[in-house]
Amino acid sequence: MKTHVLLSPQNVDELYFTGKTTVFIDVLRATTVIVNALNSGAREIIPVGSVDFAMKISGNARGGQTLLCGERNTKMVEGFDLGNSPLEYHEDVVRGKSIILFTTNGSKAALKAKFSENLIACCFNNLASVARRLVNLGKDVEILCAGSNGMFCIEDTVCAGLLINEIEKLNPDIVLTDASKISVVLNKEFGQNIKEMLYNCEHGKLLIENGFEKDIDHCAELSNIDLVPVFENGVIKSGLIETAENN
Ligand code: MLT
Repeated sequence: MKTHVLLSPQNVDELYFTGKTTVFIDVLRATTVIVNALNSGAREIIPVGSVDFAMKISGNARGGQTLLCGERNTKMVEGFDLGNSPLEYHEDVVRGKSIILFTTNGSKAALKAKFSENLIACCFNNLASVARRLVNLGKDVEILCAGSNGMFCIEDTVCAGLLINEIEKLNPDIVLTDASKISVVLNKEFGQNIKEMLYNCEHGKLLIENGFEKDIDHCAELSNIDLVPVFENGVIKSGLIETAENN
């Protein structure tokens, strides 16, 4: 089993992912929103690449069962139902609903990797569950960091490094590419205090500036949700719940 980390989606095209097992990470905040929305009982998440497309596919379907969600510059898009704060995705708001999700980097990262054989969303909240799922699958893994407008960002890479550590605990024979090794080193340096790292990274600072400080505390929680979101046929649904019992 080999792990590789893509430090930004920019360096590869969609076909790169064909037939691969891919994990996409956007800690602040898209994958944290996906994990929390599904954990609150949302039926599915439909990631989209533009606000226009989100509007188009929501069309008449919005009659209560579909929520138009996401952000531009961290803030809820005008006319949408919810923004991109994991704290908004309460059970009473999202249970049974289809969530159409547009975000600056995260929803686009999911779409970029859509040709993957297995495509899984990961954040700190569900990290241990994802690691278990990957070890059970036993395939080489591509870890796609959503980054920030095509650039590297530290929080996704630290999460990738921690995920690799977690996989390695379960399967000490894994092979690490150079980008995997650097992610592990970054996690060692910055992942000891996840909350502090998130408060001090560039996107964390922007979120604080825009009033989303509480989101960061939530995004920093480690492995508090047992859920593996899986992308298939254009939608993300909750995969088999990984627990110690079924391993
Ligand atoms: C993104 O997809 O870029 C993020 O989730 C942005 C945000 O924090 O809302």
